[in-house]
Amino acid sequence: PLVTTKEMLLNAQKGNYAVGAFNVENMEMVMAVMEAAEELKSPVIMQTTPSTVKYAGLDFFLANVKAAAERASVPVAMHLDHGSSFELAMQAYRTGYTSIMIDGSHESFEGNIAVSKAVADACAPSGIPVEAELGKVGGKEDDLDGGDDNPYTDPNQAVEFVKRTGVNSLAVAIGTAHGVYKGEPKLDLDRLSEIRKVVDIPLVLHGTSGVPDETVTECVNRGICKVNYATDLRIAFTKGVEAVFEENPDVIDPKKYNAKGKEYVKEYVMSKMRVVKSVGKA
Ligand code: 13P
Ligand code: ZN
Ligand code: NA
Repeated sequence: PLVTTKEMLLNAQKGNYAVGAFNVENMEMVMAVMEAAEELKSPVIMQTTPSTVKYAGLDFFLANVKAAAERASVPVAMHLDHGSSFELAMQAYRTGYTSIMIDGSHESFEGNIAVSKAVADACAPSGIPVEAELGKVGGKEDDLDGGDDNPYTDPNQAVEFVKRTGVNSLAVAIGTAHGVYKGEPKLDLDRLSEIRKVVDIPLVLHGTSGVPDETVTECVNRGICKVNYATDLRIAFTKGVEAVFEENPDVIDPKKYNAKGKEYVKEYVMSKMRVVKSVGKA
């Protein structure tokens, strides 16, 4: 069934595992994530970024996920990833998304608090949980010099941020980046533990594609409750489609090549559900 991420993430926090949040771009990716979750009896979050939403509309993606969720025995949530404005967050909320991220990480500390609190206040009455971000995921190393410009999440600021905004979960910046990594990412795991010690809401890891599995599991052990994967699902889907055309360039039925993309995504998602330890938790 379609549920919110509220209980899902609180359960993960209590049970010391995380829920995978997978970015979906089309119907087959929704089907792939759903089948993976169902087979592994795992709770799951599907999410769409503003650019994905722009491509087909909030309603289109929600309809796909809803259909999948209604067939499923495991809990499924539909989340707005990196909501870029109060307005888009409200559109997702009105459309029926069951979880909302407002990303004010490009704002000043006060600006981030203002927009995150506005979304949290608007969603609270109907119990739709809100994720916010403090610090900058994928911040360049040369921005690392202290003060307000430090891209990494400051534990003390995190405490104040959570208290003043009332958000339900917090994305932290500890050295991950969106997209493909050039070298191996260096994560500040001590910082994560510090944040966990002083912040009591579920913590979220972004930019997880390309982070070694052992490192992700270690982040989960240190208190991450939601783990975002996007780039690697795109790659998996595309590789699946390519494999079909390599073997037979004359294929014209979209079902044929999309099914292979779906198969590759499903396999990837299943492997990551093991990494975040959500298998059997539904
Ligand atoms: P990747 O680009 O590393 O998959 O990051 C996903 C993410 O954080 C989505 O919000
Ligand atoms: Zn992200
Ligand atoms: Na990444």
